[in-house]
Amino acid sequence: MTKTTASQSKTDVSTSVIRQHAEQEYAEELAAIREEDVYPKPENWLTSPKMTLLYLLGGKTPKGKEISPKYVGDPKLMEMAIATLATDRALLLYGLPGTAKSWVSEHLAAAVSGDSTLLIQGTAGTDESALRYSWNYAQLIANGPTPEALVESPTMRGMRDGKVVRVEELTRVGSDVQDALITILSEKTLPIPELSSEVQAQKGFNIIATANNRDRGVNELSSALARRFNTVVLPPPATLEDEVTIVQRRVEQLGRALQYPVEKPAVEELRRVVTIFRELRNGVTLDGKTKIKQPSGTLSTAEAISVVNNGLACAGYFGSGKLTATDLATSLVGAIVKDPGADVVAWREYRQTIMKNREDWKDLFKACKEIDE
Ligand SMILES: Nc1ncnc2c1ncn2[C@@H]1O[C@H](COP(=O)(O)OP(=O)(O)OP(=O)(O)O)[C@@H](O)[C@H]1O
Ligand SMILES: [Mg+2]
Repeated sequence: MTKTTASQSKTDVSTSVIRQHAEQEYAEELAAIREEDVYPKPENWLTSPKMTLLYLLGGKTPKGKEISPKYVGDPKLMEMAIATLATDRALLLYGLPGTAKSWVSEHLAAAVSGDSTLLIQGTAGTDESALRYSWNYAQLIANGPTPEALVESPTMRGMRDGKVVRVEELTRVGSDVQDALITILSEKTLPIPELSSEVQAQKGFNIIATANNRDRGVNELSSALARRFNTVVLPPPATLEDEVTIVQRRVEQLGRALQYPVEKPAVEELRRVVTIFRELRNGVTLDGKTKIKQPSGTLSTAEAISVVNNGLACAGYFGSGKLTATDLATSLVGAIVKDPGADVVAWREYRQTIMKNREDWKDLFKACKEIDE
């Protein structure tokens, strides 16, 4: 079952899927990069570390092909992430929600292994078999433990094929289950005692885990496991302009994929949303002059992207086909007010003391106020 879906998704790159994998969406860029790639690369890597960096940061290939930037931020962090994958240590992308951990992990896997689908989603319910292997019980009962009855995990396939495996939200997984990764990472083998055999990891195999430090219900990594990871902390975007660029790019991409009947949003509109997010997130206005109450939500870049995206859907289907303050206001308030008590107070205060006094924000102020009344 899983096998069919996986192979279908690899061959069927039709535009009707809601979301293509990175290696599908950027197939052209990856092909161009690989064609011009003359740099040294670790065994079984499809792209050299140097060209992988170009793929992530964007720029021009030596022959002049334009590569779109995927990550906006400190290039050193991406260098460190890529270099880690070439070592025998695994990579842990750590940070606040919405700081592009999953996004970077997907693009790294796509560039290095040409496959970002070897993915394990960590949850409180993840058990060891999700990380190691499980059994097809009908076959197991009929024929006993045989290779045919074995259901491979993404980890096992990654080890066998020498590919990068992604573990999302590693710290949501129970600590005892997390520790199943220790043998895999230190011995580079996955024993299958029932078959008296093992899968030895081929070169090119590594793990990229992501974890965030804000959500409730996280289980810290045991120190034995933490030692097997190199941690790269992804920070929130450093400047307003960086964050506006990120939102703009992602909104354009999503808009293309979802085809809303709407004009491209004005940068000014995005800048206002991002400004509100940054000010509330930091508890102070951008000019540093006025302290404000912080709402309980994370107000991440990812949420700013979905606020604009929702606004565009409203504008396209119910509005004028052009993004207005009214289209944005509902999802803006929804993103900020997560807790009907304290958040409402913080939000009202911000609206009345900051938004109201900005000359060119009158429309947005009015639209937000109408929702609250
Ligand atoms: N520095 C950045 N560069 C490029 N894109 C970014 C950046 N920060 C955030 N984004 C965008 O934000 C969105 C959310 O990122 P992602 O889902 O990877 O977050 P995350 O760190 O995995 O969050 P969570 O902890 O909630 O899983 C993505 O669409 C990504 O493009
Ligand atoms: Mg994530």
